[in-house]
Amino acid sequence: MDFSTINTAPERIKTDALIVGIHTDAKLPAATAKVDDASNGAISALLPNEFSGKTGEILVLRQLAGVTAPRVIVVGLGDPTKFNATVLQQAHRAALTSAQGMNLPSVATALLTTELDADLTALARQTAMAAGLAAYRFDPTYGREKPKPQALKQLAIACGRGQNKAVNEGLTQGQAIANGMNLTRELGNLPSNICTPSYLASTARALGRSHKLKIEVLDRKQLEALKMGAFLAVAKGSEEAPKFIVMRHEGVKTGARAKDKASAPIVLVGKGITFDTGGISLKPGASMDEMKYDMCGAASVFGTMKAIAELALPINVVGVVPACENMPSGRATKPGDVVTTMSGLTVEILNTDAEGRLILCDALTYAERFKPRAVVNVATLTGACVVALGHVNTGLFANNAELSETLRQASIQANDPAWPMPLDDAYQDQLKSNFADMANIGGRDAGAITAACFLSRFTKSYPWAHLDIAGTAWVSGKDKGASGRPVPMLVQYLLSQC
Ligand code: BES
Ligand code: MN
Ligand code: ZN
Repeated sequence: MDFSTINTAPERIKTDALIVGIHTDAKLPAATAKVDDASNGAISALLPNEFSGKTGEILVLRQLAGVTAPRVIVVGLGDPTKFNATVLQQAHRAALTSAQGMNLPSVATALLTTELDADLTALARQTAMAAGLAAYRFDPTYGREKPKPQALKQLAIACGRGQNKAVNEGLTQGQAIANGMNLTRELGNLPSNICTPSYLASTARALGRSHKLKIEVLDRKQLEALKMGAFLAVAKGSEEAPKFIVMRHEGVKTGARAKDKASAPIVLVGKGITFDTGGISLKPGASMDEMKYDMCGAASVFGTMKAIAELALPINVVGVVPACENMPSGRATKPGDVVTTMSGLTVEILNTDAEGRLILCDALTYAERFKPRAVVNVATLTGACVVALGHVNTGLFANNAELSETLRQASIQANDPAWPMPLDDAYQDQLKSNFADMANIGGRDAGAITAACFLSRFTKSYPWAHLDIAGTAWVSGKDKGASGRPVPMLVQYLLSQC
């Protein structure tokens, strides 16, 4: 998709369709008023009976006299006092869906000129994201019935000359974020017989070549040498070889600003269970197919690395992905088995379905070698987090108040919400084992919190946050598919650290 700014008066823009907005009050936004004047009141004539202005409402007007574009897509922007980036995104989604229904290759939008008080960069970012996300089609596993690609190729943003810089900055960011999210969605949507740990490793290598990331992939022998007993205990039951993937974006020369904390990397760790059967503690059959999404934490690390590499962020970021399958077999870990983690702490595996924390704990110990300024792990970790927060907020846990607040703010700004959850020491008691330093489950109560408590035992040497995306990484039901979250929040966070 090609994005650009255009400073021509809206009624003179050459495009297949021009998008203009109407709020629920009678007053037309400036750009809409211009188009209305040029067309002898063709738009105001609709009010109030034929168009109410509620968010996402759509009407297409054709061949208006005095307007260059052959189609004007009028979209509702809701209550003018409540207009914000979320409403803008909803309006653009509705208008772009309409343009797509008409198979139009080029569209121009005048919606950003409606609310000049707002942060234009943020609005432009949301616009590019909406368009980039709408262009995504999943097609690798269709045979003869491949979904048809979207016709839209060009989106022009109408704005004043003085606004070009702010809008272009937002467009660049939004496009990179959408590209990252679409990679995350593609990896999440691919079934586990294609998206194996080895597939993730080769995707990383390809990303390394196309986006100048340094890639390292450790195999079973190397993981044994590192004594990653917890990760290997999960991988053991599967025929698929485990892979431990490390991706580095170097935006600041290490050494050049050695004293500067800016050269210390931020490490992102993503759970890469390419399929979670539960292992010997086998899951029930209903909806088990959705456990192909259990690598969405990993996929969001891939997507974030892609986006920040595209934006060439002046910051060092390391992406770490432990990837394996969780399968039952004659060689699988059994409930009650005790393993020694890379940190030296031992774990009694009381439930083999609590495998995410087992692969993450060794990855979090591995992260120490980067002397990180912060570590953020991302995981579809617990069903309990879905019970607590549903599909709206990502669960946000941290051992550092400042990091927690920074991530929370990034989530708000990015329109990709996360909500802070508690990590009181009192919850740690639930992980007590009679046979090892800790158990891998803490009982039914506060399941999302005890999972985070387990991870916290391996993150004592750096500021750390854990994002439980079990409820937000994908959408179930008729529109089933990976959402691309929390890439927007992570990119926003990294932008804020530059
Ligand atoms: N991958 C699941 C968590 C999950 C469940 C994500 C449903 C999305 C939807 C995780 O590995 C898991 O199985 N967790 C268990 C933990 C329990 C055994 C303590 C769970 O949540 O039931
Ligand atoms: Mn599990
Ligand atoms: Zn899992």
